Amino acid sequence: MIKPVATQRVIALDGPAASGKSSVARLVAERLGVPYVSSGLLYRAATYLAQRRGVGLDDEAALVQLLTAMQVRLEVQIGLPNRVRVGDDVLENAALHTDTVDAGVSVVARHPRVRAWVDARLRELEGVFVVEGRDMGTVVFPGAVHKFYLSAPAEVRAARRVGERAADLAEVTEALKRRDALDRAQLRPARDARHLDTRELTLAEVVAEVLSAIGPL
Ligand code: DC
Repeated sequence: MIKPVATQRVIALDGPAASGKSSVARLVAERLGVPYVSSGLLYRAATYLAQRRGVGLDDEAALVQLLTAMQVRLEVQIGLPNRVRVGDDVLENAALHTDTVDAGVSVVARHPRVRAWVDARLRELEGVFVVEGRDMGTVVFPGAVHKFYLSAPAEVRAARRVGERAADLAEVTEALKRRDALDRAQLRPARDARHLDTRELTLAEVVAEVLSAIGPL
């Protein structure tokens, strides 16, 4: 059953890949003492499972059937990384953040029925939480109590990404631009979102701005 938004007090952070939203969301959640939720992890899990099982990333019906049959769900706990559970097993987060998953995830995330499946998993979560993604403030939680949209030029985001994974800057910039193009349809800043350009800001500064905009919960 989908819970009415009023029972969830959601803080939504949206933005393009490597805009810093997951680090910001994680730290803001920690400071507020509430769970952090990564919507992208569910898209990554769908992609990983399809790749492992030989399901075509273009085959929307087969993808949804796979996700439903395998009972894929997201577990969130205060202070802990999100975990994707498949039946009784847990998918390693490292396995969901590989170049192979990166290369396929935008294709999987385009399917409306996959999106509906992810949205339903997110709306099942209870209470107060900080959720990050592309369409949290628009499609999934339009009634979120606070909405933020983080952005930075592709070159700046790529430089941060290179710090996370061993890779060449030019290559990463190009890959990010390609992903931006593929993700564009999903990426919609909410009209009532506070827009933060993070190019000149440190992580700590962005977190401080978000916390000060939220105020006491
Ligand atoms: O935030 P991330 O990089 O883990 O997201 C992985 C992919 O999932 C990203 O390429 C776009 C897609 N995604 C989406 O379409 N909608 C969301 N709300 C979150 C992620």
